[in-house]
Amino acid sequence: MLESSHIPDLVLPPLKTKVVGRHVHTFQCVDSTNDLALAHADHGAVFVADEQASGRGRQGNRWHSPPGTGLWFSICLNMAPRGLTFAAALAVRDAVLPRARLRVKWPNDLLCGTRKICGSLVEHRDGWSALGIGINVMQSAEDFPPELAEKAGSLYSITGMPWSRAEVLHGVLTALDVYVDRIARGNYELVRVEWARECDMVNREVCRGAVSGRVCGIDEDGALLVRTASGVQRLATGELDACATRGAQGEGNWNATRRPGA
Ligand code: BTN
Repeated sequence: MLESSHIPDLVLPPLKTKVVGRHVHTFQCVDSTNDLALAHADHGAVFVADEQASGRGRQGNRWHSPPGTGLWFSICLNMAPRGLTFAAALAVRDAVLPRARLRVKWPNDLLCGTRKICGSLVEHRDGWSALGIGINVMQSAEDFPPELAEKAGSLYSITGMPWSRAEVLHGVLTALDVYVDRIARGNYELVRVEWARECDMVNREVCRGAVSGRVCGIDEDGALLVRTASGVQRLATGELDACATRGAQGEGNWNATRRPGA
C-alpha cells in the first residue's frame, strides 16, 4: 500500500507535540487505519486515510468512511488501552472549540444535539494500542447513507461553515498529545475525571437489558454504576437502550450501522 502526499487538505502544518504525530503517514484508501497502527510498532505514529474501505466501529459495526470529507486516522501507542478513548473524546472536544461545542456521550461518542460527529475505537495487541478516531468534517446531509441520515452530522452540517481537515487533525493531535502524556505519566485519573464530568451521566435514568435505574457514579474504568431496585449494578462500555434519553442525553446518533447478521 502506497503512502500519498497528494491529498492537499490532509497536509498537516508542523506539529509541536512530544509523541503523538512523531511520524504521520497519509494514504488515499486503506481497509482500516487501525490495521496500519496495529501493524507498526512506532510509538506516536499517526496513520491517516482519505478513505477506508472497511472502517470499523465499536461492537462489530461498520464505520462509513467515504473519501474527501471526513477524518479517519489512528495513532499507534506503546501503552495499555486504558483511558485512550477518554483522551480521544476530550482532544476532539478541545480541538473544535470555540467553533463547535460537542458533548461527550457515554461511553465515547461526540455529538451535537443527537447527531454523532465523532467516534473512537481502541484495539490492543501485544502491548501496543491503536487509537482510531473518525470525525465527520465536511459531509452534507445527502452524503450520509439513508440509515445514518437522522443520526449522523458533520462539523460542516452543524455549523454551516467550511472546516479544513488538516487544521482539525492538527488540533486533535496537539490536544491528544497532552492527554496521552498525562496517562503515560500515571495521571489516568485526571483524564478519567474530566471525561466523566463531560459525560454528565450521574443522576440520569438509564437502562440496558434487564438493568434499569439511576446512575449513581462512574467507576475507575469508566463503567456506569446504576442504582437499581436490586442494588448497584455496573454497566461497562456499550450502548444503552432507548430509555437512556430520559434525563437528557440524546441516544440516536451514529455514523455506524450494524453489520448485516452482526
Ligand atoms: C464508533 O463510534 O463505533 C467508533 C468509530 C471509530 C472509527 C475510526 S475511523 C479511523 C479508525 N479506523 C477504523 O477502522 N475505525 C476507526
